[in-house]
Amino acid sequence: MKPLAVLFAASEMAPWVKTGGLGDVAAALPAALRRAGHDIRVLLPYYPALRVAFPAAQMLATIPALSAGLPPARLLAAEADGLPLLLLDCPELFDRPGNPYLDAHGHDQADNAVRFGLLSRVAALLGQANSPLDWQVDVVHVNDWQTALAPAFLHYEGGAASVVTVHNIAFQGCFGPEMLPRLGLPAAAWRFDGVEYHGQLSFLKAGLQFASQISTVSPTYAREIQDEHFGYGLAPLLRHRRHALRGILNGIDTALWNPAADPALAEPYAANRLAAKRGNKAALQREMGLAEGNDLPLFGVISRLTEQKGLDLLLTIADGIPHLPAQLAVLGSGDKAMEAGFKALAERHPGRIAVRLGFDEGLAHRIEAGIDCFLMPSRFEPCGLNQMYSLRYGTPPLVQATGGLADTVVDVNDASLADKTANGFVMPDGSPHALWLTMERACTVWQDKRRWQRLQQNGMRRDFSWTLAANDYLQLYRDAIAAH
Ligand code: ADP
Ligand code: GLC
Repeated sequence: MKPLAVLFAASEMAPWVKTGGLGDVAAALPAALRRAGHDIRVLLPYYPALRVAFPAAQMLATIPALSAGLPPARLLAAEADGLPLLLLDCPELFDRPGNPYLDAHGHDQADNAVRFGLLSRVAALLGQANSPLDWQVDVVHVNDWQTALAPAFLHYEGGAASVVTVHNIAFQGCFGPEMLPRLGLPAAAWRFDGVEYHGQLSFLKAGLQFASQISTVSPTYAREIQDEHFGYGLAPLLRHRRHALRGILNGIDTALWNPAADPALAEPYAANRLAAKRGNKAALQREMGLAEGNDLPLFGVISRLTEQKGLDLLLTIADGIPHLPAQLAVLGSGDKAMEAGFKALAERHPGRIAVRLGFDEGLAHRIEAGIDCFLMPSRFEPCGLNQMYSLRYGTPPLVQATGGLADTVVDVNDASLADKTANGFVMPDGSPHALWLTMERACTVWQDKRRWQRLQQNGMRRDFSWTLAANDYLQLYRDAIAAH
């Protein structure tokens, strides 16, 4: 089959700019598609971290002001391990330190509509006849609200087929109606079946309305977002477009997340060398100031601290953890009240509960390796990467049955042990009590070393590489071209 030319547009990309799983996906999926022989190029803003990583990025084209509210910009080229990057250089919008979306106080940056309006507009431009690049794009693939306005430009002005992938429907990028002309959209786009959404301009709605195909990051989440409860207002539109919607489970970067060759770990280990995982537990306990030893199970969390992740459920019951008895190690940042809650919790239980606030890639690896059981009681989880990292690290995850968690974690019981699918623990419902009962159950299973080892090995055996997902994305692209 003919190789495809795909522009992959995203607002973050690991390891340079990452606030969550989108950054991981934007690094790994294009690389996998490239390995499969396709011409994928990644468009992303030239943030400070990318200026540092690619100081000699090559000038490709200048982009004039494309509308009244959009500043001119430049497109630069760089290469990351053979993967071509297209860096959108507009210092007044993107050359700012810190989080790509939030200001120093944790509020959305005031000009996000212009910043990501420009990113979306340029993504569309590269799929249009007047593209400044000598490159014929088959599909423009956009991700989350920050790039989701591109399909609207392609719809009103013409251009390539498009795909929008929803990594999290709770963030929709809604702005005032004055942005419509400023971003250069026609007045005709202000319709319920255009970009208008409850009196606002919604980037994500525009993408869902106009993309040739829609995907989200797990099959269960693809079903869930068609329900009012999970759809955050967009369920009716998704039901309307259900024939163009599918769920493709994310993969993980199995080279970066490999317990047998992870430079961050105290001791490498593998499914047939699980005893060496113990050294990582001891090292983590020392690093985080927990009492050292293997007589108690050690639970762990690595997460954005937000309502989505259900960690308030954990805070509700966490004072009981020493009585389970068990230990807890938390790495996270986000919601200030939740940060304070976890900090105070650790202060109440020195040696038993340790909390690190912040974003620390190396510690995230050491926690995956050093803990016994990973807690992910998310209220909703489009895919979730950490439960997959956990499975790969022989660290059974404990989850709510939602989204990608439901698609990857199989609760331990006699039947799932017999058919070798058991790999973790699934809460019976979303209450703090259910979390508590499931943690108790995990402690009981942990005492039975043989059963625990079977869980670990079942998880470690599963193939989470991007190869499978990359094939599904190729089919999605072909369907988008056909539907266009
Ligand atoms: P989400 O994208 O909703 O935050 P995912 O599970 O898809 O959830 O991805 C989260 C990613 O961010 C994982 O790679 C995880 O290891 C990482 N991560 C989250 N919080 C932290 C943190 N405080 N320090 C280091 N890595 C983190
Ligand atoms: C989002 C979701 C997460 C998913 C990630 C990558 O941030 O919250 O579940 O794994 O995107 O697709």
